[in-house]
Amino acid sequence: MKKILSLLLVTVLLLGTASAFAAQKVGVAMPTNSLQRWNQDGANMKAQLEAAGYEVDLQYANNEVATQVSQVENMILNGAEVLVLASIDGSSLGTVLQLAKDNDIKVIAYDRMLTDTENVDYYATFDNYKVGTIQGKFLEEKLDLMNAEGPFNFELFAGSPDDSNARYFHGGAWDILKPYYEAGKIVVKSGQTDFETIAILGWGTDDAQARMDNLLTNYVDGTELHAVLSPNDSLALGITNSLQAAGYTLDNFPVVTGQDCDVTNTKNIILGYQAMSVFKDTRDLAAQVVLMVDAILKGEEVPVNDTETYFNGVKIIPSYLCDPVFADKDNYRELLIDSGYYTEEQLKVD
Ligand code: BGC
Repeated sequence: MKKILSLLLVTVLLLGTASAFAAQKVGVAMPTNSLQRWNQDGANMKAQLEAAGYEVDLQYANNEVATQVSQVENMILNGAEVLVLASIDGSSLGTVLQLAKDNDIKVIAYDRMLTDTENVDYYATFDNYKVGTIQGKFLEEKLDLMNAEGPFNFELFAGSPDDSNARYFHGGAWDILKPYYEAGKIVVKSGQTDFETIAILGWGTDDAQARMDNLLTNYVDGTELHAVLSPNDSLALGITNSLQAAGYTLDNFPVVTGQDCDVTNTKNIILGYQAMSVFKDTRDLAAQVVLMVDAILKGEEVPVNDTETYFNGVKIIPSYLCDPVFADKDNYRELLIDSGYYTEEQLKVD
């Protein structure tokens, strides 16, 4: 009897410890569930954090800053011990981040930097500059800019100016392409080249499509458009929609770049309407963030691999950068299907 009782006691104690552990809450804030990549990020993070024994409060903010602010506030009030935040506007969370600091809650900026605040502890992302470099090098090789005479007509797009990643993407690509532009081998007929003019606030597909429609008025005289630099897939989709609506076909379709390997874009790559994308395996990023959360909550050293690059306007944030990978019609199968990221069915084109 005594034995049974003590066994019971041990079980109760163990269960108690387990549930105290399980009760450690992690708040995960994502910008929107209208873009596939954030849905995947959210789902991956939740699954992996739960598998590691944490309770997860996952919220999507419909791309509305005020919604995200109140979601993060609620996470803090509901007892989250670590916050993983993918912001909409990197500079808009200052007040809630102060609240987090006051409550001793550690903050990891997820994929997008949290700017102009000292209350951010870590940054986990992909090498954003390298994403741009991959796009720029691809265009350089695809059009043989080094050897061909040209000139080549380009139009340029950049991402949302309130997302610090957008400048890294653009910087990486433009550092490769700018010398050709300066030498006159790349011509931008619209004349729109500075970041603010080519940026699409909010990364919207429709806004990109509308801007491309406008740009195409410069080409109604029959001038051939050779390439469009697009920083990501949501913009690439708007761009290709516009080009298709304007009557471009596979015979004269400009070279369009992208990033994220969204399903619709990957199908466009298979069909030939988008030339490439950059694959960022969100499972890797989620796995890394789980390691970081785990280390924080266990008081261990948090794994980072870059302590120099990412200045958020106030301080350098210790970061972990995952590796982005070039993707096109030749390697998408291996990258996306064989690795289990998508099923064959999801990428089926009719
Ligand atoms: C992400 C990209 C994404 C873009 C639009 C950026 O911060 O790094 O992967 O395409 O936001 O959601």
